[in-house]
Amino acid sequence: MNNGTSNNSLRILITGGSSGIGEAVALEMAKNGHSFYLTGRNKNRLKTICDSLTSLGCEAYFGVGDVSDENKVNQMLEEVKSKLGGVDVVFANAGVGYFGNLEDLTIEQYDEQFNTNVRGVFLWLNKTLPLLKTQNKGQIIVTSSNLGLKTGARCSLYAATKHAIQAMVWCLREELKGTNVKAATINPGSVDTPWFNGKDVDRSRMLAVEDIAKAVRFIIDQDETSNIDHILLMPGKTS
Ligand SMILES: NC(=O)c1ccc[n+]([C@@H]2O[C@H](COP(=O)([O-])OP(=O)(O)OC[C@H]3O[C@@H](n4cnc5c(N)ncnc54)[C@H](OP(=O)(O)O)[C@@H]3O)[C@@H](O)[C@H]2O)c1
Repeated sequence: MNNGTSNNSLRILITGGSSGIGEAVALEMAKNGHSFYLTGRNKNRLKTICDSLTSLGCEAYFGVGDVSDENKVNQMLEEVKSKLGGVDVVFANAGVGYFGNLEDLTIEQYDEQFNTNVRGVFLWLNKTLPLLKTQNKGQIIVTSSNLGLKTGARCSLYAATKHAIQAMVWCLREELKGTNVKAATINPGSVDTPWFNGKDVDRSRMLAVEDIAKAVRFIIDQDETSNIDHILLMPGKTS
């Protein structure tokens, strides 16, 4: 993506930047400079990652708060504008997942997943789109899942949230026709991140965070002649 500046430095906003995929995308993109604003609730992790980005020569800031809290999102967006001067890439990535048979899932898990995975994505897109549309340039990337495109046992609520944001992005793409603002999803299968901490899973058969980071870079770096819709990534090691 060319943002029109001579050094092509992009202002990149990442929700869920304190861990896993969000952290990996920040570190991957930092190889080429750029400036960053990371969000999450874990202040210590956000500070550590921003320090790493700064040591790589990047400008990096963070905001602490729940991705579904509108007041916090408003405050953070004001900081994005004042510290970075705007935004070119919005990576709406924060998410949680609870898995189990539908009758065993709880209303608390329903609320947390829909608030984080759907309301959180809606809020950040809703509030950054006017900026992107005014400058008529920008890239939105939403972390969906392979479960945003298919279904599976023990995934009902999580898959419902990811189908919801998949539909949100596909509708948005229709609305963005005729502009230079693009929107895409990444749709990974299982990725080896702290998401699985404490769970009895075989991490050797999962995607690496770097796989997702490279896919996100591919979307960000695409030429003006393309408009990537989604990238579905499944683990390479199947046996
Ligand atoms: N790992 C997988 O197998 C996999 C596969 C497909 C899709 N995904 C998706 O990838 C995204 C990132 O997950 P990950 O695997 O990187 O997991 P992770 O390491 O647990 O990271 C989740 C991130 O989301 C943030 N977050 C969660 N709830 C939040 C809230 N209420 N408010 C603000 N931030 C919140 C966390 O920040 P704090 O803890 O600092 O709040 C953290 O930065 C999620 O959307 C997930 O659905 C993951």
